[in-house]
Amino acid sequence: MAKVIASAPGKCILFGEHAVVFGQPAVAVAIEQRISVSLELSDKKDDEWRIDGMKFIASKHPHVKALRSRMWQKSAGAPALSIQISGDIPPASGLGSSAALSVAASACLRAARGRWLSEGGNASEPKDWAEGFSSKIDDTDVYSDVTKGKDLARRAENNGHRTSHVFGELAVDLDESALLGHAVEAIAQGGRASPMDSSTCAHGGFVLLSDNIENGADWEYTRKMSTPEGDRTWQVHTLPISVEDQDVYLVIGNSGVHAPTSQQVAKVAKAMSQEPQRMKEIETIGVIARRGIEALLKGDFEAVGRAMSENHLMLRGLGVSCQELENLIRAAAPTSLGVKLTGAGGGGCMVALTRNPKQTSEAIELAGGRTLISKLGNNGVRIDSDEGLPFWKPVA
Ligand code: MEV
Repeated sequence: MAKVIASAPGKCILFGEHAVVFGQPAVAVAIEQRISVSLELSDKKDDEWRIDGMKFIASKHPHVKALRSRMWQKSAGAPALSIQISGDIPPASGLGSSAALSVAASACLRAARGRWLSEGGNASEPKDWAEGFSSKIDDTDVYSDVTKGKDLARRAENNGHRTSHVFGELAVDLDESALLGHAVEAIAQGGRASPMDSSTCAHGGFVLLSDNIENGADWEYTRKMSTPEGDRTWQVHTLPISVEDQDVYLVIGNSGVHAPTSQQVAKVAKAMSQEPQRMKEIETIGVIARRGIEALLKGDFEAVGRAMSENHLMLRGLGVSCQELENLIRAAAPTSLGVKLTGAGGGGCMVALTRNPKQTSEAIELAGGRTLISKLGNNGVRIDSDEGLPFWKPVA
């Protein structure tokens, strides 16, 4: 039976949310909790896609719809699919569940479809691909809104002499999975999304985003995207941090309060335009984030925790905390190295860095939060199993 399963982790922001929107550095870490996507050929005769056994309704699944139009065109012979989604990342809570879904689904589709290469081509060299998306090539545009009847992934020059085809894990590329994840997140969110979630879910570990190429970090690529506010550029890095011999954990507390990211971002933007002198607060978050990054690179988790708590005071000052989050933060603080809200705020989650995960988790639960415990820096997207690949090969 043809089947492929891929999974990707959720994420948690350690430093710099909101300030990153104004170009300051921010760091996210991949958590243990993951979303898993399984693809099979649909066994129904009606040629319809299915998600979790139900008929696929494009408006309900904008991420899957946008991926389908980029990677699985019916006009090129792509067969109907049955998709199963499972996992332990709570949805709409700022932990990157939709990015994890998009990144895992894009890896699954690539493994199942495979990739044509130009003559003598190497699968790990985007310049040799006959199809695909990468920050290293500029002749395909994953962000294009012209998808109808067009294979956006096709590279006109290489496609004419494509000779070899790879599939499964060999065809999957992290930059491509992150890029597809970013594009479909942006489409689903009205054109606004930083690549923080998609890159962390794809690469795993620790991801640093900034307007500049940062010292001490491993620069991966530049992301450029047009947003309703104009063109944006991000430098995406991974951080060379090993936490294997460290006895530190994240305890994430979910307030259960729903606050859309777009509203929180708009609130901060309004405050900055009404009182431009408050940009000093954004810059201070940047200074704290840099101090936190330095501490992370040194493995000094006491200093990492202090930077997280200072970062939270600035976020509270910006007006993006709420009483429910403050209650959880106060409960976690005595047993933690540092504690802050994580993500857009106004609700959603807080995070504590702690050497006593059980105690911290109990304190948060007693204060009314639902908790998750995670080690820091987990694996990024991966193919967990595959059989009977490829599902199809696009016709020339
Ligand atoms: C949301 O998880 C993080 C924000 O900084 C928004 C963004 O980076 O796009 C609030």
